[in-house]
Amino acid sequence: MIMKKTATISSLNGLEQLFTGEDIGSLKKSFFEMQHLYQSAIREVSTKLEILDDEFQVIHKRNPIHHMQSRIKSINSIFGKLSRREHEISLDSAKENLNDIAGIRVVCYYIDDIYMIAKMLTQQDDIVLLRVTDYIQNPKENGYRSLHLVVSVPVFFSDRKEIVPVEIQIRTMAMDFWASLEHQLRYKTNDTVPLSVAHELQECADTIAKTDLKMQSIYKSIEELNKGDL
Ligand code: GTP
Ligand code: MG
Repeated sequence: MIMKKTATISSLNGLEQLFTGEDIGSLKKSFFEMQHLYQSAIREVSTKLEILDDEFQVIHKRNPIHHMQSRIKSINSIFGKLSRREHEISLDSAKENLNDIAGIRVVCYYIDDIYMIAKMLTQQDDIVLLRVTDYIQNPKENGYRSLHLVVSVPVFFSDRKEIVPVEIQIRTMAMDFWASLEHQLRYKTNDTVPLSVAHELQECADTIAKTDLKMQSIYKSIEELNKGDL
């Protein structure tokens, strides 16, 4: 399984309009501390997921996780989101109001792997499940599918323990393929894809979902055949 990590040191460009020179200095320091906190939470959760993936390989000779990616929300996105939601614009407010400062994307082979990984992670006794949004059972209108979890995990430092939220998106390779292209297209069209294109994208998402189910049933029938051989 590959673990990709997107850049974590975010630029503070553009914040000069919001903060004075002196404020920028202390903001930078607090932001680095905050990045360390959320990066540590990502490490805790990623390690749990890697252990589960390895264990499955040891027992079943197959990995459920194809790869994982993680990211810390940039300070510009954090402040942008706080402002859209009409919250106070500060790092304390971000900690209080945002659940997706730390994000992990888990890309699995099969649909059943998604639910298995989600269950195995959330039943661990130091993990608290804060929110589940199942866009697989209930796809978004545009066709987007993934299982979203927000969990909290304790992180231990020299003098304290912090409970940190992490947003986890779990999806198949096929769902990831669609979401990546759709994201790119939306970006290229400034967030509003023409209606006809939106419809085509939705059709692609449905085709992909059917293929995901078909691949899973092929996998299951081969497993049955192999069982028969024993
Ligand atoms: P926001 O983070 O502000 O969007 O609110 P939320 O956390 O309630 O949203 P949600 O859980 O629906 O989505 C969070 C993340 O899922 C986004 O930042 C994307 O990474 C991904 N996502 C959600 N919907 C879509 C979609 O329609 N297309 C793609 N490509 N990704 C999506
Ligand atoms: Mg979010």
